[in-house]
Amino acid sequence: MADNPFSPRASGYSSYPTPSYQLGNDADDELDSDDDRSERGNYQKMMYHSELFFGAEDSENTSEDSSSGRNSPAPSVYSYHSSIDGSVLLRDLHGRVINSTSERYALPADVEEHGRLDIQHEMLKRKRNGLFFAQQPVRRALAAREGVERACLDIGSGSGSWLFDMAKQFPHVDFLGIDLAPANLNMTPPPNCRFECDDVNLGITHYKNCFDVIHISCVTPGIENYRKLMDEVAECLRPGGVYLTVEGDMNVHDENGDLVPELNEGEPGFTWTLRLVYAVREAMRARGPGNDNATKIYTFLQEQGPIWKTIGQKVIYIPVGPWEEKMSDKDRLTSEMMRQNFLRMVQSVRPLLLSFGYFEETVDKWSAGAIDEIENMKNKYYVRWLFTWAVKPGKP
Ligand SMILES: C[S@@+](CC[C@H](N)C(=O)[O-])C[C@H]1O[C@@H](n2cnc3c(N)ncnc32)[C@H](O)[C@@H]1O
Repeated sequence: MADNPFSPRASGYSSYPTPSYQLGNDADDELDSDDDRSERGNYQKMMYHSELFFGAEDSENTSEDSSSGRNSPAPSVYSYHSSIDGSVLLRDLHGRVINSTSERYALPADVEEHGRLDIQHEMLKRKRNGLFFAQQPVRRALAAREGVERACLDIGSGSGSWLFDMAKQFPHVDFLGIDLAPANLNMTPPPNCRFECDDVNLGITHYKNCFDVIHISCVTPGIENYRKLMDEVAECLRPGGVYLTVEGDMNVHDENGDLVPELNEGEPGFTWTLRLVYAVREAMRARGPGNDNATKIYTFLQEQGPIWKTIGQKVIYIPVGPWEEKMSDKDRLTSEMMRQNFLRMVQSVRPLLLSFGYFEETVDKWSAGAIDEIENMKNKYYVRWLFTWAVKPGKP
């Protein structure tokens, strides 16, 4: 891991390398399978290879030879081919690359966005003092045991940062990342790490009883029915398995931690940051429940009842920029990361807002105002983060 949290990682946000996938068809490329793509039933479910993200566009890899002898359970049968599938899985929306398989999730899937997610990952890691809460149950669930295979699933794996760090920490465990879009990997994933492109709204019960840990971080805007997904997660976990979630609350909290209500321009307390955040919430809601389930996960766990042996939640407020009077070095760094994350988020939500119907001039005005406020720390805002976990009964 790079010492400097702002230096390039999985996706290289500060160097902005050209993405290795291409939008548009390349007639010279062939599928690795004989099947005609148009006839394939579950076409979205694809396995892809790290080599393809290092420019090896003509790789002969197939799903059989890809895994260096390691496989998480029930691997897909189709091999991702970047130059062909890039055009199927990804599209351009108002100048950013986004997934083309879900109308619900409209944040980008490009190098810049994965760079933002890398910063967020480093920030959360520092806040949590590691990769997960519920240390004991997770370590128990992933403990190496003679003759027992261990596996972990990351739903909505994004840039792959969490998965990479976990795979290095638990080399005996097989890790699978599922996402609508491929990660922009510019470093070799650990050999126990594999990715699939799929929409989990289509169901994940083909992975029944397959995983010891399932992690879902910041994916609520892409989930049609989060409560249903949680039932499926419980089915896919083995006895003693652990479900881990992280969600940022898409509300604005003031310096006392209180919710800042929606305000109109001219009203006392109005800010451009606030305007932008609430517009994003509205645009997401037009595509589904959006981020609204982020704060309901703990209640959903309670509703699920004895399916879980224990459940827990930790709520952390992170300042957007180091504006608090007395801050430790660590808090100063994480709040700076939150500010950088927020600044990049202003760019990431642009396609979503434009496709919702806001005029370009309007979005530009809000964005410029928000960037000025955030860069100059004009607002004393917090983002609330909810970390939730649940442990299944039984011996791992
Ligand atoms: C905000 S990013 C978070 C990425 C990563 N979990 C993290 O915390 O850095 C949300 C990710 O979830 C993926 N996603 C959203 N809806 C999904 C769905 N229905 N099925 C699979 N992946 C989904 C998106 O493509 C995106 O990469």
